Amino acid sequence: AVPLRQARVLRPLGAGAGGGRHGMGYDVYRLSPRETDVAVVPGTTTRMRLFNGEPVPVIRATRGRPVVIQQTNGLGVPFAMHLHGGHVPAHDDGHPDDELLTGAGRVFYYPNDQQASSMWLHDHSLHAHAENVYFGAVAGYLLTDDFERRLPLPKGRYDVPLYLRDAKFAADGSLVYDMGGFMNRPTVLVNGRPRPYFEVAARKYRIRLTNTSNERAFLLQLGEGDEMTHIASDGGLLPAPYATRALEIWPAERQEVVIDFSRYPVGTKLVLANRIAYRGEAPEVMRFDVVRTAEDRSSVPDRLRPVADVGTPTVERTFVMSFDAATGAHLINGKPFDPERVDIRPRLGNTEIWTVHNTDTKFGIPHSMHTHLEHFQIVDRDGAAPAPGEAGWKDTVTVMPGKSVRFKLKFTDYTGKFMYHCHLLGHMTMGMMGQMEVVDRTA
Ligand code: C2O
Ligand code: CU
Repeated sequence: AVPLRQARVLRPLGAGAGGGRHGMGYDVYRLSPRETDVAVVPGTTTRMRLFNGEPVPVIRATRGRPVVIQQTNGLGVPFAMHLHGGHVPAHDDGHPDDELLTGAGRVFYYPNDQQASSMWLHDHSLHAHAENVYFGAVAGYLLTDDFERRLPLPKGRYDVPLYLRDAKFAADGSLVYDMGGFMNRPTVLVNGRPRPYFEVAARKYRIRLTNTSNERAFLLQLGEGDEMTHIASDGGLLPAPYATRALEIWPAERQEVVIDFSRYPVGTKLVLANRIAYRGEAPEVMRFDVVRTAEDRSSVPDRLRPVADVGTPTVERTFVMSFDAATGAHLINGKPFDPERVDIRPRLGNTEIWTVHNTDTKFGIPHSMHTHLEHFQIVDRDGAAPAPGEAGWKDTVTVMPGKSVRFKLKFTDYTGKFMYHCHLLGHMTMGMMGQMEVVDRTA
């Protein structure tokens, strides 16, 4: 087994003064995708497409202090970087109209005027996104704020982001990309390494999980089904923590847990396993090895972050997600994505309620609705109130075949064109995406 590689936190190239709503100044980073040969499977090298040539670099940002990213596309295909979970102006959102061609450069501006959450960066180009994500062009983007910093949660080296994904390697180490072959990607990578072990101290850790897989879902279980404390999801802290023995995480979702390793004697090895591994696959995702004792002043408060009221919805919309077996297309409301078509025009200041139906019972296909720009609050799943893990802010929600979900969202301050789509990337590639144009209050 190989040791876990901690995701490297990028240092800004420099800083500017006076940006942002609070005039705190801003930080400048360079984040450019390029082809890089890396050692993933021992004894081989793998050509990947990586930001700055490394697996999952991380930007740590603070609310109110904007981030500026300079980027050059070093890939042989177009690239359109999207900050997943970001509340950003349309021209910096990675719209397919804004693809960066090979060799071209641009600057992104992220205001960071939103509450603390674990976000991530990935490609959103029209035709190459699924491949670019699969070949590894992914970065973490962890936003904190004063509210979160004042909580006694584990911090610093005890706050660890883990990026999970599956992959298929050929014998020579090369990554095999087969869009329809999502059930045949048996190797699980954590921060770019296959099934690593992580040496931990016997104390509490905040573990931030992001599933960057194209299609794979995980139902994570620790040890014998030991308790983990679920504290945050896509849009940041839950209203209240709760203890769980299994944690479900679909592509693009973020789930954060606090794990208390002080329950185990030094020398314990705990497997984190995927309880929904496909037949014939090893369920092990990674292993925690408790190797030393440590002081621990952290704790998980009984209440985390109250969810703000978005008001009463005044607009209702319905989205039917379905697969068309005749053409192989994945559709929203009967249509494949068309960049020339605007599907909906939400108005600034309005709260809307969206119902998403998955009608794919015949083939048993799950779908995951993701909205750009605004996070949402789940109202119910087929009439049932959301489980505690879905009671916070979300931006991606999975709907199983024959099921539906309702959520509400408010359009607050940016106009322009943004996407919504299924985050199972094979489906998105095959058309399961729509376009909204947020219009002014008076439009
Ligand atoms: Cu993470 Cu439109 O995507
Ligand atoms: Cu889908």
